[in-house]
Amino acid sequence: MRISALTVDAQPSGCLTDEQPRIAFALDSDRAGESLASARITVGDWRVDTTDQVGTVYDGPLEPRTTYPVHVEATGESGERAEASTSFRTGRLDTPWVARWITDAAYDSPAKQSPVPMVFRRRFHTRPGLVRAWVEVTALGVYEFDLNGEKVGDDYFAPGFTSYHHQLQYQTYDLAPVEGENTAVVTVAGGWAVGSFTHKRKNTIYADRQALLAEIHLVYADGTTDIVATGPDWNVSTDGPFRMAEWYDGETFDATVTADAQTWKAADVTAPKGRPRILAQYGAPVRAQRVLTPVAQTVAPSGEVVFDFGQNVAGVIRARLRAERGQTVVFRHAEVLVDDELFVTSLRTAKATATYTCVDGEQTYSPRLTYMGFRYVGVRGIRPEDLEIETVVLHSDLPETGEFSCSNDLVNRLQSAIQWGGRSNFVDIPTDCPQRDEREGWTGDYAVFAPTASYNFDMSRFLAKWLRDVAAEQGRGGGIPMVVPRAGNPFPVMATATWGDVCILAPWAEYLARGDLRMLREQYPVMKRFLKAAGWWSALLSVGRHNRRIWRYPFHFGDWTAPDTDVRGWLRRGRWVATAYLAQSYAIVAQIADLLGRADDAVRYRRLRGEVVAAYREVFTDGRGRLKTEFQTGYVLPLAFGMTSGEETEAMADNLSRLIAEAGGHLATGFPGTPQLLFALSENGRVDEAFELLLQTSSPSWLYMVESGGTTIWERWDALRPDGTVNIADLGGGSDEDSGGGMVSFNHYAAGAVGEWLYRRVAGLEPLEGGYRRFRVAPLLGGGLTSAEGSVLTPYGRARSSWTLADGRFTLEVDVPVSTSCTVELPDGTRHDLDSGSHELVCAVV
Ligand code: BGC
Repeated sequence: MRISALTVDAQPSGCLTDEQPRIAFALDSDRAGESLASARITVGDWRVDTTDQVGTVYDGPLEPRTTYPVHVEATGESGERAEASTSFRTGRLDTPWVARWITDAAYDSPAKQSPVPMVFRRRFHTRPGLVRAWVEVTALGVYEFDLNGEKVGDDYFAPGFTSYHHQLQYQTYDLAPVEGENTAVVTVAGGWAVGSFTHKRKNTIYADRQALLAEIHLVYADGTTDIVATGPDWNVSTDGPFRMAEWYDGETFDATVTADAQTWKAADVTAPKGRPRILAQYGAPVRAQRVLTPVAQTVAPSGEVVFDFGQNVAGVIRARLRAERGQTVVFRHAEVLVDDELFVTSLRTAKATATYTCVDGEQTYSPRLTYMGFRYVGVRGIRPEDLEIETVVLHSDLPETGEFSCSNDLVNRLQSAIQWGGRSNFVDIPTDCPQRDEREGWTGDYAVFAPTASYNFDMSRFLAKWLRDVAAEQGRGGGIPMVVPRAGNPFPVMATATWGDVCILAPWAEYLARGDLRMLREQYPVMKRFLKAAGWWSALLSVGRHNRRIWRYPFHFGDWTAPDTDVRGWLRRGRWVATAYLAQSYAIVAQIADLLGRADDAVRYRRLRGEVVAAYREVFTDGRGRLKTEFQTGYVLPLAFGMTSGEETEAMADNLSRLIAEAGGHLATGFPGTPQLLFALSENGRVDEAFELLLQTSSPSWLYMVESGGTTIWERWDALRPDGTVNIADLGGGSDEDSGGGMVSFNHYAAGAVGEWLYRRVAGLEPLEGGYRRFRVAPLLGGGLTSAEGSVLTPYGRARSSWTLADGRFTLEVDVPVSTSCTVELPDGTRHDLDSGSHELVCAVV
């Protein structure tokens, strides 16, 4: 037996925290049926004996800036033993900052624009005998810290995006100063705190101007320590090489600007608005994750040289250029080409342009204080032979935990597009899209994508960070903002279905995947407040027992993006969607209440769910499974959420089938219905129809996107129409600033939520208990598939289901991690209980 993984706060090494961390470990063994008998976890003098591999919280004392060794000794049921060690470090904890916030108090951002990046500079000396140096640093804005001309650390967009009134992360980077004089230069762009954000281009949302807080710690062999802290002895300049940097418009960098030519003055001491808690980074940092080279190069009719990177991503270009001083090169970005030109209308006000002014000779440029969502880059101002260009893919550091593939290549391309949709929208917060003037933390998008996200990625650190903001920004009445962090979003905070349900659906999906109750425990009060608000709004202005459980007010996005109607139609379906999601949220929170030992709550939520289910039937249907107002999502949700029974189920499934047939074998679901559509069919005896929809290739369908060249998931099913035009329909009215570019993105992950069905039903792999401690493998056959494989790196190790179908013989391989158990259901109806180990099962299929 071996310890195959040992993590502190989901990190195998390098954890630095200001909070009580969680320790987890996975075991590996050649012995079939092995399982943990007990483990001793030691952290210094602290120790605990446990039978849990996941979620052990170190609750011993913490001293600032201290390294804590962690040791795990595990004993298996077989008597075999294994051990492993790691460590974590603490950050400042409550140590008061010696540093003071600094800014340029004379600078004001122009209206609706991002401020010019501020550059802060400080020279400092080190004496001989330096043994360690590090910096603790944060900013209002996003910063880049350079020491002696070299970037420190490999994070992008530090300190990260949080609800800055409540919490702000700081980073700790080890430094390697030279002996003698050193220069620290920190560029702070407006970022989310000060820069222009939302399509309304609000600016100075959290602070009037950028500010920096930093302490450079120098420790010498003789035991002395120097701290170089931000204060009035730092210099500031607003005419550095970064002339412009912001989310939507991009970056303008003038390499001819040298530090000597800049105007420097003493920095001003300032104080941030509000009193955020300043905590050691607890989210997953954004980093360069991979590099793509162009797959094609063309010249557009306009003369622009166009590079195709073959994949829609979030990231930045990296260019090696041979150029002359003063030569300006412009890089524009787009997701699609129309008539061989970059199509940028859908970016709306976002310019998504990097402009670089060169020095003489060979040089490299890559934006550092912005990112774009793109597949194509158009370049002007340089001869192609003087340019080498690549794309640096940026997203939060999320371990990729899931893999799915099958014998149908188009479905594999869909799976790839789903994963890329996640990668490009997990840029510090879950965004709706990475390209246009939005890139906001729309809650509904993540709510529906959560299970798929948690299959494909270890979301734990990323989500823990974002859910902290969800909790912090929950309204007093229990509403959840539609966008978190709100960051200038104009919608009032209110309880709204699907979007607000994120406070339940996101932690629940992550719990099932990772098995750590802590996230559920922390979010439980948020869930309860949200459900209370939903219940209150349902009862408002309602007459009659059943109407009191129909959730209509104050506002719902309804069947958002359903292809059979427009925005008015989406909103009109609000109460069906809201009522069904409410039933489901009650059901989930009842299960969470059981897990947390809140029996009374569980009983109450089950009762409320029953009432909502009855109300849906009474108010919306004829009582025999037919909706008075029919639309696909209206059938999908009750069927998928188990809100129907007996003949009613049959009738509803028939009616859903009929609507699909009437739509020519097409789906017509929006954000809330799409993730549930195939479940609604497959759980109710219509496996073939589920596969037909999955494999449909004409619009609207998943594979239409893929066949039309989509490498990520689209916001609208027909974003690119069969005739090659882009569907830039806006939300109607046309008076809003967002009309013109319409509402169409080629990188919205919501419809990719079908990924859950691929893992759960096609590969057949699904958790029955948190973290796959117990799981099920029950593949569904259909769609002509002859093989499929899904695997997930669970906290206990890799769980895998891989099957082939040949000559009437079904062969299934299953890997069951140590300490877990699995129930297999084969296509012939037989059930098999498996302990840990690798297994092969075979049956005949007629
Ligand atoms: C966003 C969506 C979001 C929606 C809410 C859009 O502009 O891009 O994905 O959930 O608004 O209505």
